[in-house]
Amino acid sequence: MNSTSPPAGDQEESSRRQFLKIFTGIIGLFICMVLAVPLLSSLLGPVLRGKKSRWTKVGRLPVLRSEDPVNLSFSDRAVDAYIRENISRDVWIVNLPGNGLTVYSPICTHLGCHYHWDALKKQFVCPCHGSFFALDGAVLAGPAPRPLDTLSAKVENGELYVEWERFEPGASRKIRV
Ligand code: FES
Repeated sequence: MNSTSPPAGDQEESSRRQFLKIFTGIIGLFICMVLAVPLLSSLLGPVLRGKKSRWTKVGRLPVLRSEDPVNLSFSDRAVDAYIRENISRDVWIVNLPGNGLTVYSPICTHLGCHYHWDALKKQFVCPCHGSFFALDGAVLAGPAPRPLDTLSAKVENGELYVEWERFEPGASRKIRV
């Protein structure tokens, strides 16, 4: 027997420590990876989402008369960091003489209330602080600082698609939020 080799008990102890070291390292790496997914998703999600356009199907395009806007509701998939949920949204669509199909966000440009269409006055009316908008979105009265916000829209096979976006309330021009 070689007098310089460690006793069998020490060798066992050393390989047990080695195994524990590797095992702890693997567990640590696994925990880091599990934590990194939501963290990276929340950091990079807004950046990646900001770059790609996202068409959402609203539904069959109804027949539009030039003086009567139509409110359409649809279900949209909202993504916040790693949380995904279905949200009910709506848009106003009008057939503007000369401009054709125009889609408005239903959110008032003043402080974000939902407005409605007054069929008698032929105006969009926001009940919160009394802003009035014309069919073409122009501000007629009230504190609204800019016209109604338009959304990008397209029609494919008779189905309407929009790019849902939100804009800064109270700003004099459209600023994406
Ligand atoms: Fe519409 Fe104030 S939120 S007028």
